[in-house]
Amino acid sequence: MPKIYDVITIGGATRDIMFYTDEATVMPNPVEDVTRQNLVCFEFGAKISIEGSYFTLGGGGNNAAVAFSRLGMKTAAALAIGDDDNGRAVMENLKKKKVDTKFVQKIKNKKTGFSFILTLEKERERTIFFYRGVNEELRITNYELRSFKSKWFYVSSLSNKNWRDILNKVLDRGKLAWNPGINQIKAGKKGLIEFMAHTEVLLINKDEAIELVLSDEKYKNKSADFLNQPRNLLLALSEWGPKITVVTDGGNGAYVYDGKIVYYSPAASVDKKIVDRTGVGDAFGASFTAGLEIYKGDIQKSLRLALVNSASVTTEIGAQNRLLTLKEAEKN
Ligand SMILES: Nc1ncnc2c1ncn2[C@@H]1O[C@H](COP(=O)(O)OP(=O)(O)OP(=O)(O)O)[C@@H](O)[C@H]1O
Ligand SMILES: [Mg+2]
Repeated sequence: MPKIYDVITIGGATRDIMFYTDEATVMPNPVEDVTRQNLVCFEFGAKISIEGSYFTLGGGGNNAAVAFSRLGMKTAAALAIGDDDNGRAVMENLKKKKVDTKFVQKIKNKKTGFSFILTLEKERERTIFFYRGVNEELRITNYELRSFKSKWFYVSSLSNKNWRDILNKVLDRGKLAWNPGINQIKAGKKGLIEFMAHTEVLLINKDEAIELVLSDEKYKNKSADFLNQPRNLLLALSEWGPKITVVTDGGNGAYVYDGKIVYYSPAASVDKKIVDRTGVGDAFGASFTAGLEIYKGDIQKSLRLALVNSASVTTEIGAQNRLLTLKEAEKN
């Protein structure tokens, strides 16, 4: 009898290399572009000293799997890793965090994906340079499908060209929680609409939501004022058909719409200094989805769990450090 999981995550896995500097200047983009409002500037050709560097693990599918497992969900992860030390580190970590690695694909002679994450000391904001590596080779074959039995499928950013094939293979196999990545966002309404009616939860941040709403004929000429209001983005995207739509807005909190009520909550406050925001989106998305399962669809409680866990992740360096257990989260 194949095992039935609570959730199978599908998405990226990376080695994250983080470094901090205060030698950059953030400047408004001289060219009017609502999707690129601020730029990070360094002295051209300079040798720039960095304060500290950290080696952690990341990637949407990887981070979400660890978040779900720490919250007590029976979790498996469908990821692609290379035949290298970084790949082995990803695998070891998943095993340690009790994530089933049955669907982790180890691809010979290829490199595990990695990211250079530059955090500016003053702004505490990060800019990510990422090398997709073997994430582009992730496949869902009949081998996986035979034992892909799960209540939920949590699909995060997919780097590969055949991402539609992966989505089509999990549609209606369980509830779909979807956090589209850059490739999917670029596809716009035309490229995504076919999946929306099959989506239980759509999770997206404000900038990504602006880009998607602008790809909708109905909204393409809307003003920056209109687009800068997450509530407008939430309602516009919910018309595409997902059962629940979530728009997150960083330190300003998050918005949820279930077709009847708009929920808004400011970000949870943390009693510790914010040191690194890497992984907040994955922590939020996985916790909100886990909440829907644990609290039987209660949106208010799921939102609270997501806010608390994503805020907790900001208090330590790395996307997976400070991911909470359910008991820890409910104490907050
Ligand atoms: N500075 C902060 N303090 C407290 N909570 C935060 C902070 N930044 C983000 N969060 C929480 O994390 C959630 C998601 O943040 P955000 O909208 O930045 O996601 P994201 O851009 O998708 O992140 P990622 O880059 O990890 O994908 C927010 O709704 C909020 O609850
Ligand atoms: Mg995100």
